[in-house]
Amino acid sequence: MREPTRAERTGRDRAALGAPDGGAVPLSSIQEAPVPRSPVGIPELDRVLGGGLVAGSVVLVGGEPGIGKSTLLLQAAAGVAGATASGGWVLYASGEESAPQIRLRSARLGLLDGPVAGAIRVVAESEIGRIAEIAGSERPVLVVVDSIQTMTVAELEGPAGSVGQVRESALRLMELAKGEGIAVVLVGHVTKDGSLAGPKTLEHLVDAVLSLEGERYASLRLLRASKNRFGSTEEIGVFEMGEAGLMELADPSRAFLADHEVPAPGSVVAPTLEGSRPILVEVQALVARAVYGTPRRTASGVDPNRLALLLAVLGRRAGVGLSSHDVYVNLAGGLSADEPALDLPVALALASSLRDQAVQGRTVAVGEVGLLGELRAVPGLERRLREAARLGFERAIVPAPARGSRTPEVGGLRVVAVGSLRGAVEAALDERVGARGEPAPAMLG
Ligand code: TYD
Ligand code: MG
Repeated sequence: MREPTRAERTGRDRAALGAPDGGAVPLSSIQEAPVPRSPVGIPELDRVLGGGLVAGSVVLVGGEPGIGKSTLLLQAAAGVAGATASGGWVLYASGEESAPQIRLRSARLGLLDGPVAGAIRVVAESEIGRIAEIAGSERPVLVVVDSIQTMTVAELEGPAGSVGQVRESALRLMELAKGEGIAVVLVGHVTKDGSLAGPKTLEHLVDAVLSLEGERYASLRLLRASKNRFGSTEEIGVFEMGEAGLMELADPSRAFLADHEVPAPGSVVAPTLEGSRPILVEVQALVARAVYGTPRRTASGVDPNRLALLLAVLGRRAGVGLSSHDVYVNLAGGLSADEPALDLPVALALASSLRDQAVQGRTVAVGEVGLLGELRAVPGLERRLREAARLGFERAIVPAPARGSRTPEVGGLRVVAVGSLRGAVEAALDERVGARGEPAPAMLG
């Protein structure tokens, strides 16, 4: 079988990018191009896409096997099929499952009885040429390809899932998308360490890369964009996997709060900001005296390098020495977040665990920690605090405002502004009340 020549390939890549054939044009004379966008009708997905699917664009949806990609895309197919004008339809091409298996899933999602059942056409096919042929002649508005690792191009040697097949399959689908103005969504399986070579090599080709995350045995799912040519990469979508597919949560900002009534040592609630959406998340820490060897540092959902830095600052600047302790830090609900604003809550959770003393009084904490043990302001403080107040929190420990600005006032919330990590630890833990709500010895003395 003949591989495409370099010239053919570049010409094709250029066509796929939609670049004009002519020479260079001045920036000032380039017209604004309209972006025809159709909402999928699933608000959490639309928000991550930046308002809907763009005709002619290629989106890669990655995630671990079993996380819910096929479910999400079948629901998205139904959304598009339901919203499209009469005659519009969606092609769902699966190399993973047989048509009856897809029917079974559709039944579970309640899609069989509605009008959309007629507007989603299924093909169990793994040869890209066939899929492109059907799409090219029958013109759906959306093509879903599940998954790119099962697809092959007949002219190419090598098994499905090999880098060559994955790349060439994706290139053919890009041609289809750009040439016909059809939106194409590719599913790609990715393992936890992202080690599956296939989809990674596609990230720079496609217009948007979304990933569906979560813990397989817990029900919360997070959708994020790591790349989006037609929207922001800040927004996240929050879903819950239920009996009938992925559901939107009525109140996503409280989804990542563990529910225990009594404050526990090692637990601190952080008002994080994911794009424009404030989400409250519980940071959990456990420290235990290391028995032998180098102490362990285990971080789940937070950056391990950031944790190492916080441990050093806690020891040197705040009198919370953990150099001979094993340390475990975790964000509840399987969320992962890497904003610096999590520094303070992580540090306070560690201090709280070391002292075995809970942070009392419905408290949230937020702030970036500097190497000198100082606290730095975080963006969107007022928005975060309003959300905390709405969810019933009564006290917030925040960085002292920079010169010239002021700490926001939020009804129902006592805002404690502190300049240093040491001050924050005192504010959080010196409530003169022990972990179990009994008066601490200091109070008796
Ligand atoms: P699936 O979409 O097949 O995952 P992927 O395509 O990413 O491999 O989803 C797999 C899991 O989701 C499976 O364990 C069953 C569960 N599930 C539900 O809990 N509810 C549902 O309505 C559906 C369709 C699946
Ligand atoms: Mg699947």
